[in-house]
Order: sequence, then structure tokens, then C-alpha cells
Amino acid sequence: MDASEARAIVEPRIATIPDFPEPGILFRDLTPVFADGPAFHALSESLTLPFAGRFDVLAGVEARGFLLAAAGSVLAGTGVLPVRKAGKLPRKVLTEEYALEYGTAALEVHEGELPPGTRVLIVDDVLATGGTVGAAARLVERAGWEVVGVSVAIELEGLGGRAALPDGLEVYSLLQY
Ligand code: PRP
Ligand code: MG
Repeated sequence: MDASEARAIVEPRIATIPDFPEPGILFRDLTPVFADGPAFHALSESLTLPFAGRFDVLAGVEARGFLLAAAGSVLAGTGVLPVRKAGKLPRKVLTEEYALEYGTAALEVHEGELPPGTRVLIVDDVLATGGTVGAAARLVERAGWEVVGVSVAIELEGLGGRAALPDGLEVYSLLQY
């Protein structure tokens, strides 16, 4: 299935909710896509196809990125790296902070979880300001693995996430708003 066919299945199932979580925010809810077998399959597969043959592992960012990275990795026959919110992983970790609207948050991976040089494709549901996938990309590089790209279901173009990511980082989005 090509990207335009995937868009045709996925886009009608995205729920758009005004004023969530705050007044003035238009929230794009993917849960109806996750709940629909063909749509979830199409979305998960569509995020890996532009990088076919170029990655060894998908990295999914907690929490919504876990769903897409796990499904995509099974379809692609690879493993999955959970990029977790701080404080969840039991062994020695690397930590990267990122900015929230108020304050900061942090993501973590285990040191040495993958062999040096492993080619990692970072997957998440939404690219907004880019803080989340930017921190994930820094973690992968610091751990000694290679970031081959970032793939997201939805890119919110008005929030400038793509421009906030490092120059030369390949970014794919299935849908743009
Ligand atoms: C949401 C979304 C992306 C991130 C995008 O995650 O799932 O991961 O925000 O925003 P950014 O590009 O401005 O960083 P969030 O941590 O809010 O919730 P989740 O745990 O449900 O994924
Ligand atoms: Mg998230």
C-alpha cells in the first residue's frame, strides 16, 4: 500500500476535538485509528516504508509512540526500543531533557541496549514543537547508535517542529495539518 492509500484509510478516522486539553487547542485524536484493524495496519506500515532497508530497530517514544513503533517493528521484522519517560528504566540510563510549555520533562534509554552503530528509526504519533523527538534523537546519538530518521503520523506544521530538529535529519510525516 502506498502513502496516498494509507492516508485515505487513516485520515477519515482521526477525531478532531476543539479546546482540548486547553481552550484554543485543536486536538488530533488517533485512538479511532488505533481501534480500527486496517487503519492501524496501514498507519504502522506507512511510517516505515520511506525508510525500508535502512533501519535495524524502531524506537518508540512513550506513550503513544509505543503503539506505532511496536506494530511497525512487527510488520518490518525488527525489534523495538522503548524510549521511556524518566524514572521507569531499572538499569543504567542516558537522560535527555526537553522543554514543555511549563517546565521540562526527560526521556531515557538504557545504555548499551543495542549494539554500537545500530540504525534506529524514531517513531511517534505527532510532531508538534519537536521537543520530544529531538530529545529521542539526542539519546540515540549519545548511546552510540545511528539515527536514520524520524517518522510520525501527524505533523502540526504551525508549531515549527521540523525546523527545530537538527539540519540533515530526515523527517517523514504521513499527514500534515
Ligand atoms: C505528545 C505526542 C508527542 C509529543 C509532541 O506526547 O504524543 O509525543 O506530545 O509534542 P512536541 O513535538 O511538542 O514535543 P505527550 O508526552 O504529551 O503524551 P503521550 O505520553 O500520550 O505520548
Ligand atoms: Mg507522546
